[in-house]
This record gives sequence, structure tokens and C-alpha cells, in this order.
Amino acid sequence: MWTAYKILILSYLTTEIWMEKQYLSQRQVNPGAYLTRNHTILEGTRFKRAIFKGQYCSLFGCCKDRDDGCVTQFYEVDALCYCDTFCERENSDCCPDYNSFCREEEEWSPHTQSWYPEGCLRDGQHYEEGSVIKENCNSCTCSGQQWKCSHHVCLVQPEVIDYINKGDYGWTAQNYSQFWGMTLEEGFKFRLGTLPPSSMLLSMNEMTASLTATTDLPEFFTASYKWPGWTHGPLDQKNCAASWAFSTASVAADRIAIQSNGRYTANLSPQNLISCCAKNRHGCNSGSIDRAWWFLRKRGLVSHACYPLFKDQNASNNNCAMASRSDGRGKRHAIKPCPNNIEKSNRIYQCSPPYRVSSNESEIMKEIMQNGPVQAIMQVHEDFFHYKRGIYRHITSTNEESGKYRRLRTHAVKLTGWGTLKGAQGRKEKFWIAANSWGKSWGENGYFRILRGVNESDIEKLIIAAWGQLTSSDEP
Ligand SMILES: *[C@@H]1O[C@H](CO)[C@@H](O)[C@H](O)[C@H]1NC(C)=O
Ligand SMILES: *[C@@H]1O[C@H](CO)[C@@H](O)[C@H](O)[C@H]1NC(C)=O
Ligand SMILES: *[C@@H]1O[C@H](CO)[C@@H](O)[C@H](O)[C@H]1NC(C)=O
Ligand SMILES: *[C@@H]1O[C@H](CO)[C@@H](O)[C@H](O)[C@H]1NC(C)=O
Ligand SMILES: *[C@@H]1O[C@H](CO)[C@@H](O)[C@H](O)[C@H]1NC(C)=O
Repeated sequence: MWTAYKILILSYLTTEIWMEKQYLSQRQVNPGAYLTRNHTILEGTRFKRAIFKGQYCSLFGCCKDRDDGCVTQFYEVDALCYCDTFCERENSDCCPDYNSFCREEEEWSPHTQSWYPEGCLRDGQHYEEGSVIKENCNSCTCSGQQWKCSHHVCLVQPEVIDYINKGDYGWTAQNYSQFWGMTLEEGFKFRLGTLPPSSMLLSMNEMTASLTATTDLPEFFTASYKWPGWTHGPLDQKNCAASWAFSTASVAADRIAIQSNGRYTANLSPQNLISCCAKNRHGCNSGSIDRAWWFLRKRGLVSHACYPLFKDQNASNNNCAMASRSDGRGKRHAIKPCPNNIEKSNRIYQCSPPYRVSSNESEIMKEIMQNGPVQAIMQVHEDFFHYKRGIYRHITSTNEESGKYRRLRTHAVKLTGWGTLKGAQGRKEKFWIAANSWGKSWGENGYFRILRGVNESDIEKLIIAAWGQLTSSDEP
């Protein structure tokens, strides 16, 4: 009985020792074999851990039985880590997520977590070494247990939005998703695009509208009420720095419609200007409005329907797809079909040389009321991008503006009317109504209102307009 018992114990021990030997030999031999089979895995473990966040078992899914192919270096305890039940020993070499994944235990013990001193925390979440996260216009990399971030000034600044919305400035600000993630410099570089006016433009003589009595000016006026269907709403320039083209084409289209008494109401094509105005070769990299007006006079534009905006408005790869020829009497005709082949009318629209309207507030009002919307050149400040509604006035926030962007700030818009309303601090305030070119989701349906009569953001500094060039055959 005793012997039989001894034999039983012996055989049990033998089996155990044999198994232990097997176990050790496997452990010693296999990693090497494994290495030669695919050494990139072990080499890349550190990198992979950053990606897999230590979830070996859930990734390799080998909990049922021993699988020596499913192994990875476990630096924290200087061992190889296994995902199978075989690893459940006193001196555990189970992978860190063995318990949570294979045995569905709730959390890793704090002890397990302390094996992971590397990486960074953010909003209570753990990120592995080498992780990159993007926050608005900056990106942060987890390196040496610290976030290393770029320090760009962003186009959307939540502090600026807060500051404006908490104050009583007469207008409110909003976070625009189309601007989120851009730097302020990119905003200035891609969303504006009018070169500072040339001295030639600034030295042009000012014209005064013939309307005389100021009493004729109503308190509220908007071009679209006086000429319904003849004026054109805002388009979206997207990241194409070509407000020089958008504002010019829009003012020209409105004025041709008004002057022709509604005979020609087509919107004109800013893309035609961007792609074909050789003197503004920069296209989506800014241009001058005097060259745009030169083009309208000398070459003319087709309609927006004929030559629509390209998906990629970047000029470099957009060759000009329209050309015109003179009939010898100053009128030009297209010699190419519309780029948009659904549209059949490739009529060319032309304008007179542009003229400058006085900077005097009532002169501008008279001009708009009598002849239609005008083009205005303005200086854009960082707060302007956030405008949602109200009467805009530039607010200098705590964030001092850097002179670095000064040369990028000129923008061109279209003034379409004016009004008077209670604004900041309950005061009655005079405003202009202007059309921007940032799409209809921006501002008040693509428009904005801005203080009138105080040269706010230089809006009254340079006002430009032109006549449509209509021949006698064009007259209704
Ligand atoms: C090594 O492993 C990687 C990742 O699992 C795999 O893509 C690659 O094909 C393997 N190479 C060899 C030689 O087995
Ligand atoms: C602003 O909008 C973006 C995109 O819609 C969003 O991801 C971001 O969290 C918003 N930021 C703030 C401060 O509301
Ligand atoms: C246009 O091209 C410039 C330079 O070639 C580039 O920096 C810019 O991002 C492009 N814009 C768009 C909207 O693709
Ligand atoms: C603007 O012009 C009007 C006459 O049209 C004149 O009465 C007014 O004084 C002028 N304003 C300025 C600031 O020059
Ligand atoms: C508007 O302001 C700008 C810059 O401050 C100035 O150069 C310009 O002469 C002003 N124009 C008028 C009409 O006040």
C-alpha cells in the first residue's frame, strides 16, 4: 500500500518534472525559433505596444491552450508574455491583459498598471509613447512621458469666442467647423486673397452720385428688396484666396442686371477670373481688384452657370477653359463652349472701367441706392472669422495681434445696403450690410453687418464700382 502510494507520488513527480522540462525547453528554444521565423515582431514590440496598448490576448486571441507562436517580449518583468492558461503560475508570465480578457476580470490591478509607467495622460485617458493627437490646429506627440505640442495660433480660438459672447459688443461669435483645425496664418492666407490696393487705385478720382438731398436716404435699404432677383447671394471661396475674383464678379453681375433692367440677370463666374485672368496669375494665391476689373473690361466673363467653381479651385492646375474674341466694335464673343456642357449660353459680359466712390458715408449710400451694390476693401482681424450675427466691430481681445499677418489681411466684399438698429449697450447703431464669400453657413446667411460711418476695419476706405458695358443692341 505504502509502496503503491510512493510509486504514485513518484510518477506524479516525474510527470511534473518532465512537464517542467518540456516547459523550460520550449521557453528557451521557441523564442529563438520564433525570432528567426519573424524577427520583425519582437523588434517592433515596443512600437507595437504603443499601438496595441498592451492588449496582447485580445489581439492574438490565444487563451485556450498553449501557443508558443503567440508570444511577445514583456519588458516590464524581463520575460516573454503568454496569452494561454499555461501562464497561470506563481511567477506569472501572463500577458498584462490575460485576466481581463481571458478570465473577464474587471480591471487590471494597480500593480499591473504600474508596469506601464511610460506614455502620457490626457483627459483621464492613457496614451502610449509615440501617440500623436491633434487638438484644433496643433498636434501633440507623447514623447518621454510628456506631450510635446506645436504652438500655432489657431484660426478658431475658443477664448476669443467666449470673450466676445460674454461681452456686450453688438455681435456674437461662433465656432465654425470649416475653420476648426486651421492656423490663423492659414486663415489669412487662404480665406481672404485681395492684395492691398495699388497706389493707382487709391489715387483714382472719386465719383459722386447725382442724387443730392440726403433726406432721400431711407433708414433701411437693401439691394435685394429694391431689385429682387437681380442681385446675387454669397458664394463660397473655400480655401482659395481669391476674394478679389468673388467680390468683383458679384458686383459686376448685380450691376449688369440692374443696368439692363433685368434683361441679364446671370451671376458672373469667379472661376473664369481665377483661371483666366493672366495678370492675376496667382489665382488662389491672392490677386488685385484693379486687374480683375481690367479683365472684365477687356476680356469679359461668362456666367457662373457656364463656368462653375471647380472642386479644386487651386489655379496652378486649372487651365483657362474660356476665351473671347472682339467683333471689332468693342463687344466680345466666346470662342469656346461652356466648361459646364449643360449650359448652352456662353455669352460674354463686360464692364466699363471701374470708378471710385467717395468714402463719405452718404455718398456710398446714394451710390448703392441708385446704381447697385459696390465693392469694398476691408482689413480682416482674427475675430472677424468667428462672426455669427449682429453688427460687427473689431474687438481687440487679450490675445494681442501679431504684426506678422499684416500684409495678408486685405479682403474684398460687396456692400448691398444699410440700416440702423439697437446694438452694443442698447445704443442705436448704424450698419452696412455686406456679402462675404465664405458660403451661406457663415454669418447671417453669408452676409454680415458692420458699423457704418466710422471706417470700421477700413470698410469705407476704398469703394469701387463699375457700369455694365451694354451696347445699343443689349438695351431692352
Ligand atoms: C512577420 O509578421 C508580420 C506581422 O504579423 C507579417 O506582416 C509578416 O508577413 C511576417 N513575416 C514573415 C516573414 O513571416
Ligand atoms: C469646434 O468645432 C469643431 C468641429 O465642429 C469641434 O470638433 C470642436 O470641438 C469645437 N470646439 C469648441 C471649443 O467648441
Ligand atoms: C493650393 O496650393 C497651395 C500651394 O500649391 C497649397 O499650399 C494650398 O494648400 C492649396 N489649397 C488648396 C485649397 O488645395
Ligand atoms: C458727406 O457728404 C455730405 C453731402 O453729401 C455732407 O453733408 C457731409 O458733411 C459729408 N461728410 C463728411 C464726413 O465729409
Ligand atoms: C480708414 O482707416 C484707414 C486706416 O486707419 C485710413 O488709412 C483711411 O484713410 C480711413 N478712411 C476714411 C475714409 O476715414
